[in-house]
Formats: sequence, structure tokens, C-alpha cells
Amino acid sequence: MHVPVAIVGAGPSGSLLAWILRLRGIESIVLEARSREYVEQRIRAGVLEQGTVDMLIKAGIGDRLKKEHMYHRGVCIGYRNRHYMLDFEELIGRGVTVYGQQEITRDLLGALAKENHNVIYEAPVVAIEDIDSDRPAVRYEHNGRTHELTADIVAGCDGFHGASRKAMPADVLKAYETVYPFGWLGVLAEAPPSKEVALFSHHENGFALLSMRSPTISRLYLQCAPDEDLSEWSDGRIWDELETRLGAPGWTLERGPILQKEVTPLRSFFSEPMQHGRLFLAGDAAHVVPPTGAKGLNSAVADVSVLSAALIDHFTKGDEALLRRYSDIALERNWQVQRFSWSNTAMYHVYPDRSPFDARMHEAQLRYLIGDRSPQIVYAENHTGLPISHWPEI
Ligand code: APR
Ligand code: PHB
Repeated sequence: MHVPVAIVGAGPSGSLLAWILRLRGIESIVLEARSREYVEQRIRAGVLEQGTVDMLIKAGIGDRLKKEHMYHRGVCIGYRNRHYMLDFEELIGRGVTVYGQQEITRDLLGALAKENHNVIYEAPVVAIEDIDSDRPAVRYEHNGRTHELTADIVAGCDGFHGASRKAMPADVLKAYETVYPFGWLGVLAEAPPSKEVALFSHHENGFALLSMRSPTISRLYLQCAPDEDLSEWSDGRIWDELETRLGAPGWTLERGPILQKEVTPLRSFFSEPMQHGRLFLAGDAAHVVPPTGAKGLNSAVADVSVLSAALIDHFTKGDEALLRRYSDIALERNWQVQRFSWSNTAMYHVYPDRSPFDARMHEAQLRYLIGDRSPQIVYAENHTGLPISHWPEI
């Protein structure tokens, strides 16, 4: 079998790319290692940049998002048990949208299924070969057998642990990584959000974050050890520690049943280039950010915006100019997103191994932010999302 575009992975990157190409009549096949149920249920962050919202609406898959989202005009910062509001709307004229990222995956996979798009689940890709030729080959397993197809273009949208990045020649690929000495203990709770916006709090016990999914569901996080033992965290202990780290005089943390809890280690990872021959990487396949800026899905959407615009030029006009520049364009924005996520992580967290000098520097950064309008504008621009440079014509 030969297809114009073989897409590896049906997460947000792969499913959005397939959907946009479909809108322009460009055929693709999506190969996904897991089941549809598994992909749809993976819990993720819940903050969307305006560019992400605009893209989903433009692509005709924003109906539920428009109905169910919550809009936040800024964020609150907790420092020494006081709350400081950063009003992004007032600072730069735009805020952020709260809508579960797994809801977006559900919307996209649902839309593809309704159109009978060729998405093969439980079909892990095991090899991508001949990427230097004009007919790269993709090998995948399905129903106990190995299959092979060829494509004009392979889009590697298979996340951090996928096969695509590994198919890039080792002497071409350069990887950069920082693994943080902490993780996040995340909980989903049946409790009304205790703030109108998210609260990012720096406390001597560690960072804590109050976020939300709906008027009745809160999403909360505590900085913890990367290998924290969840069995040591009863619901009562979690709520008490959240209260300690997030608390401020005259403010109450609403408690409720905890529906789900998990520990996630934090890392920053980047590999470049994001293209070699006929293989193009997008989303987590090329870069992973710590969740402190909620940038994972938003960066994936920005990548797919440029890649889909370039593929549309290529397939409908025979114009390869943008496709050739894809990697450079995507790298530029993603390094800036890495910088924001990394500096935010440093500013809010307590590092077990940090020198007293470094600790004071990070604290000075936080004090500068809450005390002065200029850094607030810069923070607001980064938090609400850097511009997306190229949009597909759909
Ligand atoms: N073959 C096929 N599919 C694979 C393979 C493989 N060898 N390896 C992984 N996959 C699939 C995974 O099962 C997953 O469904 O690729 C998909 C990758 O999805 P994500 O990890 O969500 O990556 P991406 O689509 O780039 O999303 C980027 O969105 O959900 C957020 O925070 C998340 O940062 C992430 C962002
Ligand atoms: C979330 O709502 O899950 C969330 C919000 C902000 C972040 C990370 C996660 O930075």
C-alpha cells in the first residue's frame, strides 16, 4: 500500500494533522500503538492558548470546546502565603482557555471516526526506513502480523517514547535534556475550584498548583519526589499539604472526594532537527516540556499548524519552500517555549540540591514578577502563547 502521508501516533499532534489534511483532501493513514479508549482517557493538562483555540475552531472541531470551556483572564501567584493576581486581559488583552486536553483528543478522534478516516489502533510502528528516498517505508504490527506501507511523507507524531525520532540518523540528531529532581503529585477532585483562575504557588515545602476542569471539578498538583510513594499520601494528607502551600489569610480551599491521583516526573527534552529527508517530527516526538507552563499540547498544535500549511503547499501547489523550512521555523518557537517552561519551573519549585545563592536568585525572579508590570507583560505573552507563524489554508 502507498499513501501520501503516513502519520505515526494518534495523540493530539497526529489526529489534528490527519484532520487538517483531510479538510484539504490530502489522504493519510494514522497508525496508533494503543487502543482508542486508552488514547482518549489519558489525563493531561487543561490550559489552551488562544492560538490553539483559534486553530480548533478554524478546523471545525471547536463546537464542544465553545460550549464547555472556562475562560481565565489571568493567573494568581502565591508567595509567602499571599495571593497576587496577574490580569493578562488587562496587561495584554488576552487570557487562557480551560478545557481538558484529553477532551480535544476525544473531539478529534471522534471526528475522524465519523468520517471513517483510516486510523488503525493497536498498530505500533516498529520501523521507518528509507527516509532519504522519496518513498519511505513504515513497518507496523497489527493483529499479530507485520505490515508495511510506503508514503511520500512520514509524520512522526508518536510522542516521547515513539519510534519516529529513533528513525532519524544518529549522526544527524542532537538531543538536549534536563531531568528535574522532583515530580508532580496530581489529583483530580470533585470540588468546586477555590479560585476564579489558576493559582501557582511557591512555598518553602515546595510548589503547588490549583487548577480546574469545570465548575465542579478541581485539578491540583503538589511538588513531590520524582519517585514519590503514593501510598504515603492519604486524601487527608494531600488536602492538608495543598492548604499549607496554597493558603492565604481569609481564603478557603474547597475539599472534596479525590477521584484520581498520580505522580509524574518532570523533564525538559529537545532533539533537533525536526526533519530529515521525508520524515517530519511534531509534538512530543521532538520536544517535552515540564508542565509548569502547560505547553505540551499547545506546542504540538503550533507544530501541526506549520507542518500542515507546508504539506498543503506541497501537495496542492507542488511548492516545497515552507516544507524545507519547517524544522527551522518549529525549532525557533519551541526553544522559546522551552525557555519559558524551564524558567517558570526554576522560579516556582524548591530544589533539594540548589545552592542558597541560586535559591535567592529564583526568589528574586518571583518577587520581580509580582512587583513590576514589565515582567508581568512578558510573562502574560508567554503564558497565553507566542504567535503561531504559519496557518494552514482551510
Ligand atoms: N507507533 C504508533 N504509535 C505510537 C508509537 C509507535 N511506535 N509510540 C507511541 N505511539 C502513540 C502513543 O500511544 C500516543 O497515542 O503516539 C501517540 C503520541 O501522543 P502524545 O504522547 O500525546 O504526543 P503528541 O500527540 O505529540 O501530544 C503532545 O499533547 O496530550 C498532550 O501533554 C501531551 O505534551 C503532550 C502533547
Ligand atoms: C492543569 O489544569 O492540569 C494544568 C494547568 C496549568 C499547568 C499545568 C497543568 O501549568
